[in-house]
Amino acid sequence: MKRAGRARRFAIRDLCPPDTLIIDVGADHGHVAHALGGIATERMPQRSGRTDVDWVIADGLLPFRDVPCAVIAGMGAETIVRILDNGPRPSVAILHAQDDPPKLRRMLATRGWRIDAEALAPEARRYAEVLRVVPGDEPSSGFTLEFGPRLLADGHPLLHDHLQQLCGHYGRIAKQTKGSATDAHSLAMARLAFLQKKLTDMGVDTQDS
Ligand SMILES: C[S@@+](CC[C@H](N)C(=O)[O-])C[C@H]1O[C@@H](n2cnc3c(N)ncnc32)[C@H](O)[C@@H]1O
Repeated sequence: MKRAGRARRFAIRDLCPPDTLIIDVGADHGHVAHALGGIATERMPQRSGRTDVDWVIADGLLPFRDVPCAVIAGMGAETIVRILDNGPRPSVAILHAQDDPPKLRRMLATRGWRIDAEALAPEARRYAEVLRVVPGDEPSSGFTLEFGPRLLADGHPLLHDHLQQLCGHYGRIAKQTKGSATDAHSLAMARLAFLQKKLTDMGVDTQDS
């Protein structure tokens, strides 16, 4: 798995509330915790991280009584949601699922998390999607929820490139699944149409997407 690159670290940092204790769950080498001035946690005692941050060996947030802000990044959507489900519930969480951001957003919405802000950061020839969530009801649904209600409503300097990258991704899936996996093909086509419409609304010609 990829460790937080500089751009993603900055995106995470910029979404963190100021003057708030931050607990960076699964901090690995501790670079994000260092950038944020937070506490670094890891479930693996043998992991060696940087020595200029405070470390707690823990499964998720379990040993903490109160969590003003948690950063849970660079993990799969299901792992992130499991850590949040196990509690204690943070007042704010900054999240990044490296495998399936649409799934992360869907799961969060069904568990009483509202997406408050979102950012993009270039990483590994695509764009890492970083979410800030707070307890509450998420009003968006469907593909708007999956692809980022705040990104789509508020815009982002990288949104256009990100949507084009996603169009390429779902276009390839649609081609690969044509004539075989009907459900997967229909879903890829529907996602592609949604993303192309968003790009068209932004004034982009999507003929070649
Ligand atoms: C790929 S690294 C991500 C490092 C960094 N957070 C980032 O964004 O790049 C994932 C880390 O999460 C840790 N991890 C996974 N599940 C965890 C849990 N339940 N509690 C604490 N750490 C966990 C793993 O040990 C691993 O070091």
